[in-house]
Amino acid sequence: MNARVRPLRLGALATSSIARRRTLPTAVGMPEVELVAVAGRSVDRARRFAGQFGCEAEPDCAALLRRPDVEAVYISTPTSLHHVWADRALRAGKHVLVEKPLGVDADEARRLCSLAGERGLVLRENFMFLHHPQHAFAEDLVRRGRIGTPSAFRASFCIPPMPAEDIRYAPGLGGGALLDVGVYPLRAAALLLGRGSRVAGATLRVRASDGLDLSGQALLVSPSGVLAQVTFGFEHAYASSYTLWGDKGRLSVTRAFTPPPAHRPELVLVEQDHEERFTLLASDQLRTCLQDFTAAVRGGARGEESAEADLREEAIALMECVDDIRARAVRVAVDDRP
Ligand SMILES: NC(=O)c1ccc[n+]([C@@H]2O[C@H](COP(=O)([O-])OP(=O)(O)OC[C@H]3O[C@@H](n4cnc5c(N)ncnc54)[C@H](OP(=O)(O)O)[C@@H]3O)[C@@H](O)[C@H]2O)c1
Repeated sequence: MNARVRPLRLGALATSSIARRRTLPTAVGMPEVELVAVAGRSVDRARRFAGQFGCEAEPDCAALLRRPDVEAVYISTPTSLHHVWADRALRAGKHVLVEKPLGVDADEARRLCSLAGERGLVLRENFMFLHHPQHAFAEDLVRRGRIGTPSAFRASFCIPPMPAEDIRYAPGLGGGALLDVGVYPLRAAALLLGRGSRVAGATLRVRASDGLDLSGQALLVSPSGVLAQVTFGFEHAYASSYTLWGDKGRLSVTRAFTPPPAHRPELVLVEQDHEERFTLLASDQLRTCLQDFTAAVRGGARGEESAEADLREEAIALMECVDDIRARAVRVAVDDRP
């Protein structure tokens, strides 16, 4: 890091599990970031976090947003509150890194993106996987013709069932598999096949009691005609992978979305009579994500406005795809009564 660049003074909104386990431990270990304060619904929990991460605790989120020394906030509330707090933070003049996705639908994403654009503030969603170099490596293999002409893409992000009280099972908090895990393979399709895929069909397994989606699949058609199938859910043994398939080969990334920082990715390229494995260096995608966010705040918000605008367009396109899947999905009711 350039020694003259000040660390980004960050505030954390919500004492969430992801903040405690991953984001804040990473942030406090980085010279680019200074964690200033944390706030949530309970000042006692905020104090415990503050003790753990060596920052101050504010009595509530509004007080944190009033602090003039906080330049940017990291928001890790349940999904239904991403829009609420990102909106308030942008109006308070703060740059925002918010957990994925930006909101519960495309309308929320559009409103936030136009507010950030108007105010010249950085607004990014915390899709860590986009910052892992394994995807650029995969794209490079495709560009070099190693799979030939791509015609099919498959991606999955699935996790086993969670405790019943998890926020992901609460419809009022923006729960459901499509918003929580479905957005990953959809975002991967946009990354690898280009923005603007059409939804050709979708299915959702929903709880009979309240319609919350537990898992699903969608079929997409990319702008260049690649057929994509994405699978997501809370009902499966863990899977986090994608495969790009062309007329010469099939390339698979097996830990696509949540590789641990020490994990050395292994990409597998299968050709007619030959299989090749590429073992890459480990990379901490969250650390890189935070570094990129800091760099965008420091220089990019003005200097690279088109890059920020492009990321915002991408976030809106993702939510349009989510809306389309909801609108088209054939729903299968799953009996969830004990
Ligand atoms: N990028 C990733 O890899 C990744 C991974 C996991 C999760 N996430 C995202 O991070 C967010 C938090 O997930 P999590 O698993 O960490 O959830 P969690 O532990 O349940 O944390 C959510 C936090 O939101 C706050 N909150 C505000 N209003 C709430 C309400 N009505 N009910 C419950 N909590 C409320 C709470 O903090 P206070 O009590 O302090 O207000 C709570 O600790 C979600 O949007 C999730 O999708 C992202």
